[in-house]
Amino acid sequence: MKEKKVLITIFGGTGDLAQRKLYPSLFRLYQKGQLKESFAVIGTARRPWSNETYREVVMSSVSNLTASEQQAAAFASHFYYQSHDVNDTNHYDTLKKLANQLDEEYGLAGNRLFYLAMSPSLFGTIVHHLQSQGLLESDGYHRVIIEKPFGTDYQTAEKLNNEINEVFDESEIYRIDHYLGKEMIQSISAVRFANSLFEAVWNNRYIDNVQISLAENLGVEERAGYYDQSGALKDMVQNHIFQVLALLAMDPPAAFNEEEIRNEKIKALRAIRMYDAEEVAKNFVRAQYVQGKISGRTYKGYKEEDQVNPESRTETFVAGRLFIDNFRWSGVPFYIRTGKRMTEKGTRINIVFKSVPINLFNHSFDEEEQNAQKPEPNVLTIYIQPTEGFSLSLNGKEVGPNFNLLPVKLNYRNSAEIIANTPEAYEKLILDCLSGDGTNFTHWHEVSQSWKIVDQIRQAWDADTTSPIPTYAAGTMGPDEAFHLLQEDGFNWVWQPDHWYREHGELS
Ligand code: BG6
Repeated sequence: MKEKKVLITIFGGTGDLAQRKLYPSLFRLYQKGQLKESFAVIGTARRPWSNETYREVVMSSVSNLTASEQQAAAFASHFYYQSHDVNDTNHYDTLKKLANQLDEEYGLAGNRLFYLAMSPSLFGTIVHHLQSQGLLESDGYHRVIIEKPFGTDYQTAEKLNNEINEVFDESEIYRIDHYLGKEMIQSISAVRFANSLFEAVWNNRYIDNVQISLAENLGVEERAGYYDQSGALKDMVQNHIFQVLALLAMDPPAAFNEEEIRNEKIKALRAIRMYDAEEVAKNFVRAQYVQGKISGRTYKGYKEEDQVNPESRTETFVAGRLFIDNFRWSGVPFYIRTGKRMTEKGTRINIVFKSVPINLFNHSFDEEEQNAQKPEPNVLTIYIQPTEGFSLSLNGKEVGPNFNLLPVKLNYRNSAEIIANTPEAYEKLILDCLSGDGTNFTHWHEVSQSWKIVDQIRQAWDADTTSPIPTYAAGTMGPDEAFHLLQEDGFNWVWQPDHWYREHGELS
């Protein structure tokens, strides 16, 4: 394995994301030898920290990953801190000097990765200064990783994109959607394209409906200020849910590479039906959580949370029915659902297959017996987190003299040990970026199309300032309206709490 030579400059180096995700991910790459001697990190932020303080912070953020303090110290010695005001041109000159010096000292071949983990309103200013002050004049590659949110609607996203494009080419821009770094999200393609069993039936002839649930039991935590401006639709649907949907719905790519996969994803996103206000009301549900219990503990309602406007109409839950108007998916509803303070953390995809065309087993006059003879639809479930794996429900025969159908589940879950050893999403994504592979990052055309769909829903909701927002008690799976959405079509949400895993202490 060849070590990656690179200078990583993190804007927002003192922030929560850097400490919780970036430093531990870089450390894991270091432990695996992907980063070795020839790398350096500059952390920038406004605070006047010294290199020593910064290194201590880095060391403490990796303390639970390392066997020895020595190793953590050796890693942290590659980190440098530069107090930085993003609007001050002189500060970029200082940054350039430091960058050139580290380049030489560590032999970084002029490769530079800029990680923007700050407010998106500053991205334009930062990238322009990087160019005007000569930070992009080194010999190697120049790449930029951009954290979400990428804009707050289509217009702001487009403006942001244009600003970044004035400096970086699309191929140098890596827009993060951390869901694309998750093991089981990447596994969607394996399940689909490595099993003739599935790909042959992956269409509207055999699939009744698709359900995507991104349930969280957490609330808004310390991010209420951001969240109250954003809401679940922008926070989770525009990015994560549409990415998952695109991977499920895309046609098989001609080759398993960045360009071909991206083209297919974009085509799928473009085929999603756009809704007018009336259709939004019919197909989308928003709701807010009110006080309720999760695992015996009482949680307050959203409007009572600190930093949330007590009059807030921001949704903490969204459910929706989408249609993909192409030959493969015509007529198949894709139900999506996400929310805070739901029953438990459970990110899952359920592919519900059509029932057999004729029920051969329904020969009893007794209603109860008739139900016992009704084949359940086959369901393929992809468990994304916290447990990882997949299951397929089938129908068998109950052992015994009578002919009763018995639903059985072929269940495969990764063990806790495997999960603990899988690279974290950020680790994978940073390594991809260092290798120049943009497959698991979002292209502008994907982002723009998702915003266009989300904007229509948002506009319809914002135009209605008076109807009460439905509510759901903390600890439930959303308001009744979200259940009606499927019942209207004769379906039900397949997702059920993961009792077995809870009882075995495998769920937090
Ligand atoms: C983030 C959202 O993008 O994803 C958060 O901003 C959310 O609100 C998080 O909690 C969920 O990510 P994960 O990996 O915990 O499912």
